[in-house]
Amino acid sequence: MATNRTFTMIKPDAVQENHIGGILGMIEAGGFRIVELQKINLTAERAGQFYAVHAERPFYNDLVKYMSSGPIVAAILEKENAVADFRTLIGATNPANAEDGTIRKKYAKSIEANAVHGSDSDENAQIEGEFFFGNK
Ligand code: PPS
Repeated sequence: MATNRTFTMIKPDAVQENHIGGILGMIEAGGFRIVELQKINLTAERAGQFYAVHAERPFYNDLVKYMSSGPIVAAILEKENAVADFRTLIGATNPANAEDGTIRKKYAKSIEANAVHGSDSDENAQIEGEFFFGNK
């Protein structure tokens, strides 16, 4: 994956509450092209693998349970400066700190149920995209 790509997931709370379209609309309006898209259920095992980097953090078990509690939407997005621009578009991890106009400000409910994931580096965007879609 080139550095003009990032990876996102729409998390179970946002899928459950019918916000897939609203969130994808904000993503496209933000200038991102949806390159790959998949609605899928993560098993606890797969969610645990995806978040393995956080395995030592106190919220890890809750995060794994939550991310395997219902379907998610995984996507690869393309735009110049994709990783940083997408982090700006989604807003702070804790929606209490998210700026107006961000996806999390509009759709996130808590630091756990925070509507979307966005890769934090080009390297992780590549790894996370391959986790769902193989080597694109
Ligand atoms: S970040 O975005 O990676 O800098 O954020 P970070 O604080 O490192 O959090 C990593 C992911 O863990 C989730 N998270 C939590 N889940 C449950 N409970 C608590 N308290 C909590 N704190 C953080 C957070 O939503 C991040 O998920 P992703 O999918 O990476 O956005």
